[in-house]
Amino acid sequence: MFKMIATYIIFWVLIQLLVEINCQMIPFKPKQRYLHTATLINNKLYILGGFYLNHKLSGNEFFYLDFSVPFNTQNLLWQDLSSINIVPPHGAAATVKGGANNNTLFLYGGVSKRIIMELVYAYDPQENAWSTPTIVGLNTIRKRNLIGIMDYNGKMYLWSGLVFDNNPKGKLTLADDMLILDTINLNWGKGSSVGAPTPRFNYAAVMLANNSIIYLGGYGNKELELSEVYIYDTINDSWDIKETSGKIPSNRNGFSAVLGLDGQKIIIFGGTATDAENSLCILNLTDFEWYIPKISGQIPKGRMYHQANVIGNYMVISFGMGYDQLTESDILLLDINNNDEYTWTNDFITLPSSSSVPSPTVTQLSPPTNSPILQQQSVAVGTILGSLFDDSPQNNSDDNGVQEQPEKWNLKF
Ligand SMILES: *[C@@H]1O[C@H](CO)[C@@H](O)[C@H](O)[C@H]1NC(C)=O
Ligand SMILES: *[C@@H]1O[C@H](CO)[C@@H](O)[C@H](O)[C@H]1NC(C)=O
Ligand SMILES: *[C@@H]1O[C@H](CO)[C@@H](O)[C@H](O)[C@H]1NC(C)=O
Ligand SMILES: *[C@@H]1O[C@H](CO)[C@@H](O)[C@H](O)[C@H]1NC(C)=O
Ligand SMILES: *[C@@H]1O[C@H](CO)[C@@H](O)[C@H](O)[C@H]1NC(C)=O
Repeated sequence: MFKMIATYIIFWVLIQLLVEINCQMIPFKPKQRYLHTATLINNKLYILGGFYLNHKLSGNEFFYLDFSVPFNTQNLLWQDLSSINIVPPHGAAATVKGGANNNTLFLYGGVSKRIIMELVYAYDPQENAWSTPTIVGLNTIRKRNLIGIMDYNGKMYLWSGLVFDNNPKGKLTLADDMLILDTINLNWGKGSSVGAPTPRFNYAAVMLANNSIIYLGGYGNKELELSEVYIYDTINDSWDIKETSGKIPSNRNGFSAVLGLDGQKIIIFGGTATDAENSLCILNLTDFEWYIPKISGQIPKGRMYHQANVIGNYMVISFGMGYDQLTESDILLLDINNNDEYTWTNDFITLPSSSSVPSPTVTQLSPPTNSPILQQQSVAVGTILGSLFDDSPQNNSDDNGVQEQPEKWNLKF
């Protein structure tokens, strides 16, 4: 009898050990997702939210990839932070890096189960903790399928996007406002809509070195064209339209855009125009001429509803729809260091001396030309405290929460 118990205990201990070793050896492998967020803070790319390929809301996974060390995309060492995540399952939200320490992840909007999601969440990597900051001033409805752009003064710009009607059917409509979240002073503001482009969602947007934001494409009542692009001057709070020329890419939404390392061009990738040849295009910011760059390496499938960040010398694409997780990595790397030829590669190589520099895109740019003195005039309109939880009925929910309803977007899938 005693022998049996002893054997049993030894077995139990062995099994515990095995389980432990196994857990340490199986790397965290996130499921494929789209309309997630990807935020770079201190060389770590934090991934949150989105929808699985069955259009159901992803779970509460929160994880990052460390870009301070070299790696190969065939072997991604995701670090799992899900256990500390307080953000409910959601998709189509917007994030930036900002805050008083300029090192905090701010998440705004998105779609979730009713009631349970706050409008804004913040994650501080130093504390490894999430919070729900109180934002004062004009409050707002929840928007989704939009991009958050951080300026050089801690303000997050949230233009247009989709919003749920207040009617019981929960119809999606287009928002046409420029919402501004000051992530340092934690207040809401509003920018000008005078001269703004037609409202849209799933567009692309990039912060330029001169305090202007460029907006491209998207979906309004149809796939929108790239024959014109829109510049929002954050200092003067004004909009400008630029006609483009050259090899104008086909209309698209769900694509990504980043600023080239020289700050002189916009690189766009993927979206609903997924023919591989048309997938990668460049816009010259001096003359607004489009062209197809010379590309080497193995050209990946086009992706839509992915994210793109510039990290070191690379345009880093994360997740999205349109590829097979079994044959292609969740992370794509386009080496954009050489303007004469961009290279798709599996190897992330860190910059020799400046591996601790957070975001070479920004640091390599010439300093902003406009003085930020005018910044203070930014508008604080009204003080209506609307409901934080404005999600309208979601008829399509299941036990996993909300299901994305792409058919409601009337889009190509
Ligand atoms: C935050 O850091 C970025 C570089 O990552 C810099 O461009 C920006 O000006 C900083 N913002 C503030 C408010 O200091
Ligand atoms: C912004 O305002 C400044 C100062 O009034 C002016 O010099 C500049 O031309 C304006 N920029 C644009 C794009 O209108
Ligand atoms: C900022 O740069 C863009 C792109 O080159 C340009 O079109 C725009 O006029 C510039 N804005 C200001 C205020 O200089
Ligand atoms: C961008 O346009 C400017 C003005 O036409 C030109 O000088 C420059 O060479 C162009 N850049 C590229 C990469 O084509
Ligand atoms: C919700 O879905 C059910 C079944 O699909 C349908 O019968 C019902 O009319 C829907 N309700 C609304 C408010 O759309």
